[in-house]
Amino acid sequence: MSAHTPTLISKAPHMGTTIFTVMSALAAEKGAVNLGQGFPDFPCDPRLPELVSDAMREGLNQYPPMTGVAPLREAVSRKIEALYGRHYDPASEITITAGATQAILTIILAIIHPSDEVIVLEPCYDSYVPNIELAGGQVVRVPLTPGTFRPDFDKIRAAITPQTRAILINSPHNPSGMVWSREEMLTLQEILAPTNIVLISDEVYEHMVYAPLQYWSAAHFEGLAARAFIVSSFGKTYHVTGWKVGTVAAPAAYTAEFRKVHQFNVFTVNTPMQHALARYMADPAPYLELPAFYQRKRDLFREGLAQTQFKLLPGEGTYFQCVDISGLAVPEKNLGEAEFCKWLTTEIGVAAIPLSAFYGNGFDQKVIRFCFAKQDDTLRAALGKLARL
Ligand SMILES: Cc1ncc(COP(=O)(O)O)c(C=O)c1O
Repeated sequence: MSAHTPTLISKAPHMGTTIFTVMSALAAEKGAVNLGQGFPDFPCDPRLPELVSDAMREGLNQYPPMTGVAPLREAVSRKIEALYGRHYDPASEITITAGATQAILTIILAIIHPSDEVIVLEPCYDSYVPNIELAGGQVVRVPLTPGTFRPDFDKIRAAITPQTRAILINSPHNPSGMVWSREEMLTLQEILAPTNIVLISDEVYEHMVYAPLQYWSAAHFEGLAARAFIVSSFGKTYHVTGWKVGTVAAPAAYTAEFRKVHQFNVFTVNTPMQHALARYMADPAPYLELPAFYQRKRDLFREGLAQTQFKLLPGEGTYFQCVDISGLAVPEKNLGEAEFCKWLTTEIGVAAIPLSAFYGNGFDQKVIRFCFAKQDDTLRAALGKLARL
């Protein structure tokens, strides 16, 4: 009897390796400074791993409740109420997830029925579209305004049909760094008011908004909060992207549906880290001080880039800075964004991400993204190399 491997019919025939993996591998191969993938190259607060060790030594090593440990849900609820003025019941309206990526997939699997339409605003985080497709939903792509990346409400209105089940927004926005204004959130609230559209608000960069701007969460707005799943991630806020712990806040009826899928997906998220995060959250200073921490890095990086021929785009929030390459003096500026990024990594020694990677149709506007969540020395090393341009 000969063994054979039955052929699979791919459920995701178009999905390849992400550009982040490709660029990180190229950066490592060429010894380039990696400003591509979005993660800090500096350590987290040493208190955090100590708190995890404490929890492990105390024996907090078995399955936690499916919804997340109570102290962490309570801490998240207190934080949202203090910052955004809305109370979420920790028992029925807050769930701890294995990062924001799992949270978003689980929301989509829980609420999207085959042929439901979901509006995404492009450019967008790369998991949204595959998530909708895996759920059998129809992706409706609406571009953010090229150049400013602000929402185009005429286009959003025009995209809404009786089949629209959800809209996904992300502020502060990856990759552009754009932050939705209060007026924009109010306009969205007004557009959604007469509909049954669910809002999925990806707020993982909520603590990275730079003065004089203020952050506007969907939780600030009664009409949005009533129809919203609000997603956040401790990875971004506490410099621990590898921990993969996130949160979903949503009205009780939505949370109940979310948890039905969550319990048979991850079931629970690791126990000691949840206790550590709950204890760490007792002090609000780390997240309250985060904007100033990253604003200084953003300014250092922008000042250096201002000495080059890159054209700086606004940097209102997140730890990303986008630049337009069309004014560079080198002939490689005429390459497509992805080819330019490969050249930049290989020949100049700095890795970046092409914005085309965040569009379904590979829209190329000569803009690339750098991540400045790096040690000052890393940023200076990158700027030293980019000074040639
Ligand atoms: C917009 C956005 N959403 C979600 C995530 C994923 O967060 P997590 O690492 O918690 O899954 C990221 C990470 O880069 C992101 O940029």
